[in-house]
Amino acid sequence: AQVDKAGHKHFMAKEIAEQPTVIAEAIRHYLPVGEDAVHLPGDGIDFTKIDRLTLVACGTAFYACLTAKYWFEKLARIPVEVDIASEFRYREPPIPGRTAALFVSQSGETADTLAALRYCKDKADQILSVVNVPESSIARESDLALPIHAGVEIGVASTKAFTCQLSVLLMLALKAATDRGEIGEEELQAHVSALRGLPNVMSAALEQNEAIRQASLKLSEARDVLFLGRGLMFPLALEGALKLKEISYIHAEAYASGELKHGPIALIDNNMPVVVLAPRDDLFDKSVSNMQEVMARKGKVMLVSDAEGLAEAGDEVWQAIRMPQVHDSLSPILYALPAQMLAYHTAVAKGTDVDQPRNLAKSVTVE
Ligand code: G6P
Repeated sequence: AQVDKAGHKHFMAKEIAEQPTVIAEAIRHYLPVGEDAVHLPGDGIDFTKIDRLTLVACGTAFYACLTAKYWFEKLARIPVEVDIASEFRYREPPIPGRTAALFVSQSGETADTLAALRYCKDKADQILSVVNVPESSIARESDLALPIHAGVEIGVASTKAFTCQLSVLLMLALKAATDRGEIGEEELQAHVSALRGLPNVMSAALEQNEAIRQASLKLSEARDVLFLGRGLMFPLALEGALKLKEISYIHAEAYASGELKHGPIALIDNNMPVVVLAPRDDLFDKSVSNMQEVMARKGKVMLVSDAEGLAEAGDEVWQAIRMPQVHDSLSPILYALPAQMLAYHTAVAKGTDVDQPRNLAKSVTVE
């Protein structure tokens, strides 16, 4: 089917805006209304027969895997390894028994990811994939392919596919937690109702578009930008930095906040914007002390947090971006939106070709 920009200036803007709709679709598919259990298509998979998971992908899908590691380990107590497909395939790692290998790919055709899947074929107990294109090679060659229901994604920089990948991976982690008896009925229901409410919370986050555009005008003057996050926000910091460099061509890097003192703090001066992704959760106090370390060296902190977090951080921050309140485990899905909007508006301010950034391809089917 023909896809148009539906009144938006770029496909990327349209794809950012339609996330509440496509996420609702993905969630409805796996959690039909009126039913309580997390359903998976096909024959499903029994996580009591699996002792470890290996997650493999490239680019943005790799950051979805890094996020999923936190969920599978915390909720289902299942050990998880995450690897970049091009490293994994040539390292030829040993695959112990009772391992499930899971491949995440929007296109389902990325050459390195497909090769990594083929390497696992006669070694892993189960080959799973999380894909946007159900007819793709990666989907066809998996024992079980879970579609993400994002619809066609045209912008080279992945947006809605990323948040849909995250939603499906979280639901899969909940399924693993249920199979393994690691999660009680009440906790499961809390996650399920938070997931069902997520599209509305995402719509509220999108209302910050104009505030984020204003902040992006400032960011567009920077030569380098540092992103910081802890826990579930660390992979998202990596994704935020990737988005920014892909489309605005501003050099950006991300660190786990706790690593600040082990290197990147040497870069901090009054020219260095530091984007801190930090909802008011258990780790928030630690993020505040990291921000203070940055501000004490005149670094410019752009804090993305909820109302409570922003109030606690005080008015010394350079830019504040307010997000709605959300269940702790859903924060990477929600906070992906400001990360995407920041990159988008910064790129627009710089006048780059947002949907077709130089040197990049939507799908890398050759090595
Ligand atoms: C390319 C795209 C990225 C994408 C990556 C992996 O680099 O520009 O947006 O994340 O490939 O693609 P896949 O289709 O496997 O998710």
